[in-house]
Amino acid sequence: MDLEQKLAETLAVLRRVEAEFSPAVFANSFGAEDMVITDLIAKHGLKIEVFSLDTGRLPAETYDLMAKVRESYPTTQVVTFFPNAASVERYVNQSGINAFYESVELRKECCRIRKLEPLARALAGKKAWITGLRREQSPTRTDMAHQEWDDGNAMAKFNPLLEWTEKEVWAYIKGNQVPYNKLHDQFYPSIGCAPCTRSVSLGEDVRSGRWWWENPEFKECGLHAKH
Ligand code: ADX
Ligand code: SF4
Repeated sequence: MDLEQKLAETLAVLRRVEAEFSPAVFANSFGAEDMVITDLIAKHGLKIEVFSLDTGRLPAETYDLMAKVRESYPTTQVVTFFPNAASVERYVNQSGINAFYESVELRKECCRIRKLEPLARALAGKKAWITGLRREQSPTRTDMAHQEWDDGNAMAKFNPLLEWTEKEVWAYIKGNQVPYNKLHDQFYPSIGCAPCTRSVSLGEDVRSGRWWWENPEFKECGLHAKH
C-alpha cells in the first residue's frame, strides 16, 4: 500500500470514529505521528476533540510546539490535562523528584500519577479515543489493530496510523508543512518526558531513547497497557 492509500484509509477510520463514536477524543503527545493526525483533524474539520497530557516534565521543545500548534491551527483547540497536584507532591516528597530511575515500580507510579490518572479524566464520558501508535514502533505494539477494545478505559480505541512507516510520517509532515518538535531533528524519534527520553544512535530502534535503563518489554507507561 502506498502513502496515498494509507492516507485514505486513515481518513476513513477518522471519519468513521467521528460518525459512529461521538464524542471521541484524540490523545495528542505532539510527537510526529500525532502531528499528522492533528493536521488531518484540522484540515478536514473533523468533529473530534483533541487533548494532551502535560506531565509537568515535558521538554522545552514540546512546549514550543504546543504554542506553535495553537497559532497554526486556531480552530482546533488542544485541551490540556495536568496531574493531580496533591498526588505529585506526595510522590516527590516521599520518593524524590527523579525517583523513576530507581525501580520499574517507582517509574510506573510516576507515570500513573502524571499520565494515567489525567488520562482517565480526559476520557471520562467519551465513546472512543484515538492514538498515534504505529505497529513498527515497539515489540509491545506488533499485535495491535486499527480498532481495539480498551478494557482498562472501557471504550473503543482507534490507531489510524498503525500501518504507517516512519518514512511515511515524515513524508506527510514535510509535504504538508506540518509543524513538528525540533527535537526530532536532533535524533529524538520518540519523545516523552524530558528525564525519560534521550537521543538515539544510528541504527538503534525508534523507542530505544525512552526509559533506556529498562528492558524493552517493560517500556510502556501504561497508557497503552493490555488488561
Ligand atoms: S508512550 O506510552 O510511550 O508514552 P508514545 O509516546 O509512543 O506513548 O505515544 C503513543 C501515543 O500515546 C501517542 O500517539 C498519543 O496518542 C498517546 N500519548 C502519549 N503521550 C501522550 C501525552 N502526553 N498526551 C496525550 N497523548 C499521549
Ligand atoms: Fe514520570 Fe518519566 Fe513517566 Fe514522565 S515518563 S510520567 S517523568 S516516569
